[in-house]
This record gives sequence, C-alpha cells and structure tokens, in this order.
Amino acid sequence: MSISDKVEKLLLRAEIGKALTREEIADLLRMPPAWAFELFAAADRVRKNEVGDAVFLRGIVEFSNYCTRDCLYCGLRKSNHAITRYRMSNDEILHRAEYIRKTGISTVVLQSGEDPFYSSDKVCRLIEKIRKETKLVVTLSIGERPLEDFKAFYQAGAERYLLKHETASRALYEYLRPGCLLKSRVSCLQFIKQLGFETGTGNMVGLPGQTFETLADDLLLMKSLNADMLGIGPFIPHPNTPLAGMENDGIDLTIRVLAMARLLTRNTNIPATTALATLHPQGRIFALQAGANVVMPDFTPEPYRYYYNIYPGKEKIQSPEIMVREMTEELYKIGRYIDFSAGTNLNLDHRKILH
Ligand code: 5AD
Ligand code: SF4
Repeated sequence: MSISDKVEKLLLRAEIGKALTREEIADLLRMPPAWAFELFAAADRVRKNEVGDAVFLRGIVEFSNYCTRDCLYCGLRKSNHAITRYRMSNDEILHRAEYIRKTGISTVVLQSGEDPFYSSDKVCRLIEKIRKETKLVVTLSIGERPLEDFKAFYQAGAERYLLKHETASRALYEYLRPGCLLKSRVSCLQFIKQLGFETGTGNMVGLPGQTFETLADDLLLMKSLNADMLGIGPFIPHPNTPLAGMENDGIDLTIRVLAMARLLTRNTNIPATTALATLHPQGRIFALQAGANVVMPDFTPEPYRYYYNIYPGKEKIQSPEIMVREMTEELYKIGRYIDFSAGTNLNLDHRKILH
C-alpha cells in the first residue's frame, strides 16, 4: 500500500470515529504536508457535526504569578528571579470578573502558578463571592492540590478545572517537572472528573525529547480521561529557563495534534490557544478551522498581564476587547460566530445525577 493509500484509509477511519492505535495515530501525525490539509478538513467536519459552528469565549484572569514549582519550560518557575511577582487582591479579581460579565461572557478562568498563599479557604471564599456577585461559571486553573481542596472548590461552586498533563511520557514529565509525578497528575485528573467538574487537560507540542509516539500517548490519555476540555499549545522556549534557545518548529505540528484530538474525542471543547496566536498571527484562526471551538481572551489587567510571562511574546497579545472584536469579524468570514453562553459540554451525563 502506498503512503497516500495508507493515510487516506486511516483518515477515513478517524473521521467516522473508529478507535486508532498508538502507531496509527503517530502515522497520521507524521504524514506529509500535502495530506495535513485533509487531516485539518476532516477535523473541521467533525467539529461542525459534533459541536456546531459556535465559538465559545472564556475570560481569563491570571491572579497570581507566584509558583512553588520549578518546571524547566516555564517562565513562572520559582528559580526565575528576573520577573516581578504579583498577587491581585480579592477586589481586583472581583472587579475583573464583573467586567467579564459586562462584556456578556459567561465564564471566568481563574489562573495562577501553584501558590500556597491561596489556602483552600481563601479560594473557596473567592469562588463564592464571584458566583454570588456575577453568576459567572467559575473555572479554576491553579495546579495540583490536596484532594480535599478539589472537593471544597466544587462545593464552593467552581464547576470546571483545568490541569494540563503536559506530556504523557513519564520520563519526560518527571524530567521537566522536578519533584512531580505523572501518576499523581493523572490521579488528580481522575478525581476531579469523578467529583463532577468539567475537566480540562492538555499538552505542549514541540518539547525536547517528544516523539510522534509520545504525542500519540498524549492523545490516548486525553481520550481515556474522558476530559471535557483539551488545551493543546506549542512549546515556546523562554529565555530565563533551562530550555532557553531550543528550536521551535512553528505551529504545524500543534495543529495536527489538535485536529487529531478533535477526531479522537469528538465533542470536547478545544481552545485555539494563546500560545498559537503568539507564534503565528493567524494561529487561532487556523486552529478554529482544524477542530478548535473555544477562544480565551486574557482579561488580566495591566500591569499584571505583562508579568504573567509564561513564554516570550505572550505579553504582546491583544487586549480582550480588541481580540473579541477581531475574532467576531474573522469568524464571520468563515461562517462561524461567537456564542457568549457558557456552553456546557455534552460528556457530562454524571452532572445530572450530582445536581
Ligand atoms: N511554552 C508554551 N506553553 C507553556 N506553558 C508553560 N511554559 C510554556 C512554554 N514555555 C503552559 C503549560 C502550563 C501553562 C501554565 O502554560 O502548558 O500548563
Ligand atoms: Fe508553575 Fe505551572 Fe509554570 Fe510549572 S508550569 S512553573 S507549575 S506555573
């Protein structure tokens, strides 16, 4: 069988939702460029059938850039003394949440480094306050916590939790995240999902040491976790980290992984990530035409947004107002539209039991 026959067969199977093996997924990820367009088109069709033409918005507030971890790839790592650290006050966070509400967006993502300053109680009071004052759906993205914290957050009214697994290669994960275990990450994700959270995971693409096979493992892990949201972004080397100066291969492979995630997981929410927009001016739109259905405007106020420098270039991303306006125009051109609702995911049958 020629390469193109093989790829065509695999793509057809993927599009109708047949399970694929690790090797088959790796083969699709390494397909020749001429075929990648077929992969993107298939993912776009599945996106349309499964979740429609709406693009959902999530307003991000990056409320603290303190982090006790030392991940080799991340600008917020504790050994990076070249950044200004900040914590937003509760009032500042609440004001931003109110502003997000005013723009019509229905969900806020509260994001931070792993910052123990925010005790379980502090986070719970914040969730309750935001729920009470704004009625926004609250998504947390604050890292690994003791299991009882996740429970408390859920009881306080948070409904979504993002915890990217970053890479499904145990060796790579444990090298890149000193002191962390992939096993614990996966346990946290399973626990969060079981509690009833809409659960987000995801990876970075282009990490040193990553292979097509480990990327296939990422996709199989996303599927086996039955995650509701998948954040897939390119790795962008940060100058103040041990991975400074590494090559970056652009966004093509990231979009391939994203398209495969759509084919394999069908009705999940997949953002066109900020990291894609950082590497390429059209990055978000390409992703939205290859399986993505969510964008996440950054509502972190100045000057904090400049200090939340996970990777270089992030600080140049447009203000949320401009981003939403440009996105509305761009989407119109491709027959898509922004949906301001929270867009609850279809995988969530268990919520009906819990509520
Ligand atoms: N490039 C791209 N994404 C990064 N992240 C951290 N460092 C980088 C980087 N250098 C992402 C990780 C993490 C989140 C905080 O940001 O996926 O989940
Ligand atoms: Fe901290 Fe997350 Fe960055 Fe790791 S990736 S250093 S946990 S903010």
